[in-house]
Amino acid sequence: MPDLIVTGTLCTRCGACVATCPLRIIELPEGSLSPRFTDTGAARCIACGHCEAVCPTSALLVDAPRLDPSTYSPPSTPLAAEDLDAYLRMRRSIRHFRPDPVPRETIEGLLNVVRFAPTGSNRQGIKWLVIHDTAEVRRLTGLAVDWLRSQREGGSRLGPHFNVAGMIRSWRKGNDPICRNAPHLVIPYSDRQHPTADVDSIIAAAHLEIVAPAHGVGTCLGGFFQMAAEAWEPLRQALSLPEGHRPGYTILLGYPVTTYRRPPKRNRLDLTWR
Ligand SMILES: Cc1cc2nc3c(=O)[nH]c(=O)nc-3n(C[C@H](O)[C@H](O)[C@H](O)COP(=O)(O)O)c2cc1C
Repeated sequence: MPDLIVTGTLCTRCGACVATCPLRIIELPEGSLSPRFTDTGAARCIACGHCEAVCPTSALLVDAPRLDPSTYSPPSTPLAAEDLDAYLRMRRSIRHFRPDPVPRETIEGLLNVVRFAPTGSNRQGIKWLVIHDTAEVRRLTGLAVDWLRSQREGGSRLGPHFNVAGMIRSWRKGNDPICRNAPHLVIPYSDRQHPTADVDSIIAAAHLEIVAPAHGVGTCLGGFFQMAAEAWEPLRQALSLPEGHRPGYTILLGYPVTTYRRPPKRNRLDLTWR
């Protein structure tokens, strides 16, 4: 159960923690020096840390065994909105990767940022499998191609959307239409019992796609690999995720070859106001 640790001498009783708590489980009763959990508060606290994050005097800490004790500073200069807008427009799916590996520390650093992405009820149940060994990426891709072969016949949901036969031919010629010769695969996975598990994984994947280019690393969502990982038993077994866990969205990762000079055109905004 999380603990609320308050340094009474620092608390100004401003009430920001009470106001921000999403579960309304912090109270600041008349006459008390500092905030505290309501009677059922500790049991219901999701350790989102918003109370700690808003406190103007750092008087309050949320503590729980699962929390990483590392602390991070806010940005030294605020990010200009137009710079962020331009950065997001420049993010691209990378399909040509250099063969040299991205160091493990770099990937771990990226995932340590992605850890701050939202999750349902602040569950933070995402775990990561990184296939760092490029030979293993190729072996797993081969298994995904086996799945693709099984989808060649009519009736497959891929048929109307993708040129499955062409992809298999391309693989036979030595290309990699599934993992794009990426040196690494990054796979978020979680216990799918939780109602938001799938969305949590996809949001984490999206955050990785956003943060990676700032560190010179390219990514692409691996849709075909993902479908194979969910449907093809030999690939599922090769990934050997813990019992009850399923892969979230697979991300292809490596240093990009391509340099993009400007954002591409996109469909017009389709927006309804009510
Ligand atoms: C759910 C999903 C699955 C995707 N799967 C693949 C894939 O298997 N292979 C691939 O090359 N690109 C894949 N992509 C990338 C899209 O093709 C890409 O986002 C689109 O072409 C637009 O390019 P951009 O991301 O550079 O804006 C996928 C994207 C999404 C959202």
